[in-house]
Amino acid sequence: MKQKEMNAYLANIAVELFKLHNLHWNCVGRDFPQIHLYLEGMYEEIFEYMDEVAEIQRMDGLVPDSNLKTYLANATIQELESKEISTKEVLDHIKADLIILKDQATALRNDLDEENHFSAVALMEEHVASYRKRLWFIESMQK
Ligand SMILES: [Fe+2]
Repeated sequence: MKQKEMNAYLANIAVELFKLHNLHWNCVGRDFPQIHLYLEGMYEEIFEYMDEVAEIQRMDGLVPDSNLKTYLANATIQELESKEISTKEVLDHIKADLIILKDQATALRNDLDEENHFSAVALMEEHVASYRKRLWFIESMQK
């Protein structure tokens, strides 16, 4: 298990979980209801991902990073200020973050494959597939 890389991914997921709540609460614009609901589905999914990425480490006898201080120190995804934000800007932020998460999960998948860690590979493939589908949705909303 590539624990350092796994925890770097966990940190980004944790920060994204809070960031999605920020955007869910504070987005404004004509398409507010759709974006508000879409973000809710997204943070529910990513909450599951956070649990999965921590628990797969426990299955290997490792202790995953488990506090906000460490997540903030390790995350490459940036938090946003607490303020109203247009739905257009929300989509731009979400798209950029999804690309970071997709690329990170893809690199992890390939590292884990070299170790023949089949269950972790399967998990990362599931995450990548979801990020790709969400990117399609976001890009379609941006047109
Ligand atoms: Fe809500």
